[in-house]
Amino acid sequence: MSFLKKLFGGGEQKSSCCGHDHDHSHGHGHSAPQPQPAAAAAPSAAVTSPVPAPEPAPAPKIPVVHRGLEGVYANESKLSDVQGDEGKLYYLGYNIDELVNSHVSFEEVIFLLHKYKLPTRTELEEIEAKLRARRSLPQGIIDFLTAAPKNADPMDVLRTGVSMLGLYDTLGNDSDRTLNEDRSLAIIAKIPLIIGYYHRARQGLSLPPVRLDLSEAAHFLYLITGEEPSAKATKTLDIAYIIHAEHGMNASTFSARVTVATLSDIYSAITSAIGTLKGPLHGGANEGVIHMLEEIGSPDKVDSWVEERLAKKEKIMGIGHRVYKVLDPRAPHLRAMAIKLTEELGEPKWIQMSERIAEIMRTRKKLEANVDFYSATVYHSLGIPTDLFTPIFAISRAAGWTAQVLEQLDDNRLYRPLTLYTGPHGLKVTPIDQR
Ligand SMILES: CC(C)(COP(=O)(O)OP(=O)(O)OC[C@H]1O[C@@H](n2cnc3c(N)ncnc32)[C@H](O)[C@@H]1OP(=O)(O)O)[C@@H](O)C(=O)NCCC(=O)NCCS
Repeated sequence: MSFLKKLFGGGEQKSSCCGHDHDHSHGHGHSAPQPQPAAAAAPSAAVTSPVPAPEPAPAPKIPVVHRGLEGVYANESKLSDVQGDEGKLYYLGYNIDELVNSHVSFEEVIFLLHKYKLPTRTELEEIEAKLRARRSLPQGIIDFLTAAPKNADPMDVLRTGVSMLGLYDTLGNDSDRTLNEDRSLAIIAKIPLIIGYYHRARQGLSLPPVRLDLSEAAHFLYLITGEEPSAKATKTLDIAYIIHAEHGMNASTFSARVTVATLSDIYSAITSAIGTLKGPLHGGANEGVIHMLEEIGSPDKVDSWVEERLAKKEKIMGIGHRVYKVLDPRAPHLRAMAIKLTEELGEPKWIQMSERIAEIMRTRKKLEANVDFYSATVYHSLGIPTDLFTPIFAISRAAGWTAQVLEQLDDNRLYRPLTLYTGPHGLKVTPIDQR
């Protein structure tokens, strides 16, 4: 049991003072205030009632450490309701199953997240036009994309590209909601261009001119292939975009909120989010899934491969979730698409391996597949290179990140949790040549 876990118990955390992250009442370096006995009664010759017993000393308050902030509500949000025990996900009250089954588009979901309602037809046409009008990059960013190392991680390129977008913002420091909604649409429209153009440039290919007649999903596929995609590929990616668009206080959204809550700018917030999404415990897991499937190679090798990893206490990518204790509600949509696509491609081994891994993990560890587990096979089946899987996650999550940043600024409060200090106290400096 860790030192911190030993300290778990009731009590509340106090706010920081004198620049330290500790609660003065728990006895780490600062002496706890001592309980004062009740004032003694004045001496009296005729004692008719006993002196009241002193109040029992209040129990010392022991800080509760929520490692990884698990189970902590850090803010309120109208945007998405992640129901971990039920395995349900709602955007503004709409179940994602309802959104997908009603053929709502990614652009409608962007509107929903920014405006808190589904658009009318005119409003949809307006937001589509605005997004398409923002399909351009400053020359400085195009120069960066063509000069960037050919073997760079596209997530690093994206993080740098979005950070650079801030340099070209001509709107100044003004940050009212209308301007930030405008910036949000620009960021959503430009992220696919940064990824698509870098992907072309790293192969030594020309950068295709943007097209204004294609949806967000179709345009991204066009950017990376140079060809207009099929309606089926577009629909598949559009659904993937929708179900990745928003997900409560996940790690990257938290980063975005923390950054903008200092009243920094929206580009800084989305840059923070991209850096956070990259990690293999978050968005990077979808790339890990394909690497795993490639390494396993064939369905007959799954059992021994998984057992070996479990024996070494290694994580299986795409399995498990901090919030969902049952099946991730996004997984069945991706699973259905993965089954269809691999059948059509005549490559059922990907889904066969995935199904067996999921079954073993369910039985052995009571863990279910998460969003990344089947999205990897979907993207792979669409012919998308593996290192673009996490950038695709970023394209769709930009809708949620920007909505969360707007919501944060609508009712801002700085995030400033505490750390329970466990280091030494009162050390004296030994002169450097005597250490
Ligand atoms: C998502 C994730 C980080 C959530 O983790 P968490 O809430 O911190 O849970 P923990 O890592 O503490 O795991 C709890 C237990 O389940 C096990 N576990 C969780 N995910 C596991 C996985 N993918 N493979 C094997 N074991 C796993 C842990 O080893 C631990 O077991 P133990 O109690 O015997 O030590 C974790 O499930 C994970 O690393 N998954 C793989 C990466 C991934 O797919 N990320 C995308 C998330 S959408």
